[in-house]
Amino acid sequence: MIYQVYPRSWADSDGDGIGDLPGITARLPYLVDLGVDALWISPFYRSPMADAGYDVADYRDIDPLFGTLSDADALIARAHELGLKVIVDLVPNHTSDQHAWFQAALAAKPGSPERARYLFRDGRGPRGDEPPNDWQSVFWGSAWTKAEPAVLVDDGNGATFVKRKAQWYLNLFDSAQPDLDWSNPEVREEFDSVLRFWLDRGVDGFRVDVAHGLVKQEGLPDWNARAEMAGSDAEGMHTGAAPMWDQDGVHEIYRAWRRTLDEYTPTRADGSPDPAGERILVAEAWVEPIERAALYVRSDEMHQAFNFHYLNAHWRAEDLRAAIEQSFRGNDLVGAPTTWVLSNHDVVRHASRLGLPVDQPRPQGIGADDPQPDAEPGLRRARAATTLMLAMPGSAYLYQGEELGLPEHTALPDDVRQDPAFHRSNGKETGRDGARIPMAWEADAPAAGFNTTGEAWLPQPEVYAELAVDRQQGVEGSTLELYKTLLRLRRDRGLGSAGLARLEGVDADSPDVVAYELVGAPGSGSTADDATRTAVVLNLGPEPVALPEGEVLVASGPLDDGRLPTDTAAWVALA
Ligand code: GLC
Repeated sequence: MIYQVYPRSWADSDGDGIGDLPGITARLPYLVDLGVDALWISPFYRSPMADAGYDVADYRDIDPLFGTLSDADALIARAHELGLKVIVDLVPNHTSDQHAWFQAALAAKPGSPERARYLFRDGRGPRGDEPPNDWQSVFWGSAWTKAEPAVLVDDGNGATFVKRKAQWYLNLFDSAQPDLDWSNPEVREEFDSVLRFWLDRGVDGFRVDVAHGLVKQEGLPDWNARAEMAGSDAEGMHTGAAPMWDQDGVHEIYRAWRRTLDEYTPTRADGSPDPAGERILVAEAWVEPIERAALYVRSDEMHQAFNFHYLNAHWRAEDLRAAIEQSFRGNDLVGAPTTWVLSNHDVVRHASRLGLPVDQPRPQGIGADDPQPDAEPGLRRARAATTLMLAMPGSAYLYQGEELGLPEHTALPDDVRQDPAFHRSNGKETGRDGARIPMAWEADAPAAGFNTTGEAWLPQPEVYAELAVDRQQGVEGSTLELYKTLLRLRRDRGLGSAGLARLEGVDADSPDVVAYELVGAPGSGSTADDATRTAVVLNLGPEPVALPEGEVLVASGPLDDGRLPTDTAAWVALA
């Protein structure tokens, strides 16, 4: 189980209102107590923070806001002492416009080797005043930014002619995030060296940002659609048809990276690779259909890819079943385990998302003027969704604070919003700030224990204090204790690598019930006799349903006379 730490918002050791690496290191024991195997840390590199660090100016240094390289070393060392693996975020699709390469590109001439590391093109129209093609940025507006105007020359007779057309550069995200040209070997060499830099410092893997975007279709043809990244609905997700996404050429890049990572896998006494020390690659690839997504996790490419089907599914039994079964089908094709995720720094937190009307497409942020989620069913469903998810074989990803049931901040004032998507869309897209609010540790401390000064780069809603860690630790029935129980049982019963089948019989056949049986093998030396049989049952219907016979191990909410009420999930040890 991998826990995502968003460094700006997890723990702030120096009180400046922005979380930092020493803050993370100090809080690592919390993750051990929770039952986490690894943490993934969102970008902490030197960055002007045009996109909260996903705009990297120096891949080999830490931003002073977060600390220093020696703070990173200390974090990695302490995590390893505690038995936690560390996955860092790699942002290869684009750099910051402040990166030395981009600054050199701007200073150089069109056609120069400096410009060839990015996607500079002449504009359309007689003077090049129109963007080179019609691509739209994920963050709204054109995906092209003009780097310099046309060079006009007076012909001596009072007329001018165009000596050089205006040049533009491609930015699929913000104009402060110019896209690299991955057909350039220099770019490939640079990132291989960046991988080695962090592998040498001891990191256990990389989460690869926008892994489906690195290669663009030859000739950059017009597309006539917005380069949406994470469609607001499963159906809206882009397919391989888009010229900027999921081009076949990306796979060669990941095969090369895999070879580099494998060089770092330690060997056992007999010379064979030790899987316990394997360094891993995880793709953030919003790709449809699932068969295309599965290509990223072929045996010589990445180890895992985020599977967003469950996150995108509507709160209906048939949709959840379809998302789950599709996920297994896709990954079975390549023999890789699937992954599970309900929340991250880019989507509305699931405690709030699931409190919206069921048919509503997944929102891109929630603002004060939008219909507000209903908190009580939201949290009840969120706990049930997590209970179902953590029974599933594969790797589960949790996002900081979801273990407290933290909701989205749905009433942030516009003037504190920082998401470039909010600003570039003139507020049409609310954006992701509401999912990125500083963590709540202690109810009565300043900024709910995020630091000791009370400063916070985004304000916390009042409810965060009530939900703080110290209000939930050891409290029976709290969301935090539910997560701890689920994670302990998941490990004890070997569910992460269990076999899965639909559960038949009892009320499991009701159309409103999602029910599976998991056969798990706890521990490596276990035999068939040690196998555990666990049922996971989720009821989405209005009436309570009977649970299968056996011991109820955990439930996401109170049972009703031994029966499973609506929007509740439970695990049962089958006899
Ligand atoms: C990924 C990140 C997101 C970022 C974008 C551009 O989707 O998760 O936060 O804005 O890439 O780097």
